[in-house]
Amino acid sequence: MSNDEKNYTKLDVVSGKSYFICQCGQSAKYPLCDGSHKNTSFSPEKYVASADTSVSVCGCNDLKTVVCNCA
Ligand code: FES
Repeated sequence: MSNDEKNYTKLDVVSGKSYFICQCGQSAKYPLCDGSHKNTSFSPEKYVASADTSVSVCGCNDLKTVVCNCA
C-alpha cells in the first residue's frame, strides 16, 4: 500500500475515557458513532484510551478498526 492509499482519521483521546468508533460510515461525527447505525447491521467498536494522546482510526477497509499503523 502506498502512502496515497492510506486512509485514517485522527482522534484526540483522554486516558481512561471510552470512545465508540463508528463502523457503519454513516456518522455525521465520524470517527465517533452518533447512532446513525440504528437501521444497519453495524454497531460501534468501544475503545478505551490508555493515555492522553492522538490515535488513528483506520479507514482502509469496510471495518474501521480503532487504531491502525497507517499514521
Ligand atoms: S453511527 Fe456508525 S456505528 Fe454508530
